[in-house]
Amino acid sequence: MTQLCLFLIKPNAVEDGNAGRIITMLEDDGFRVLNMKMFTFNPELSREFYAEHLGKEFYPRLESFMCSGPTIGMILEKDNAIHDIRELLGDVKPENRKPGTIRALYGKGITDNGGHASDSPEHAEREIKIIFG
Ligand code: CMP
Repeated sequence: MTQLCLFLIKPNAVEDGNAGRIITMLEDDGFRVLNMKMFTFNPELSREFYAEHLGKEFYPRLESFMCSGPTIGMILEKDNAIHDIRELLGDVKPENRKPGTIRALYGKGITDNGGHASDSPEHAEREIKIIFG
């Protein structure tokens, strides 16, 4: 079943010049880029996008990181996009990242982890609306 998901190339990966390599990984894995834009999070947008994490111990670090530089947002399409993007992205925890995943290659710590991907069709719809309107 064809699905959509939102993907973000986070500020550390844009800053390090790895955006092109990440887009190539996505396309080589069969994802079609339907829309793409570069923008910078502000605190208000971060609080809306990461509403489920507001109040958690790590949230202030997450907001400060997401507002630290440009992000590239993409709407991706593929059969089973949600499952496949989570596999390609890799785990949030550095010690659990499989070799060859985007976060293993272009992530650093738990916060500056290179990328974000929607984890359900419902979240994909919500996140696409927030970033692309
Ligand atoms: P992301 O997939 O964008 O979703 C929430 C983000 O919070 C996560 O990637 C990380 O950048 C950040 N984060 C920082 N610490 C944690 C943590 N302990 N658990 C989950 N996410 C964290």
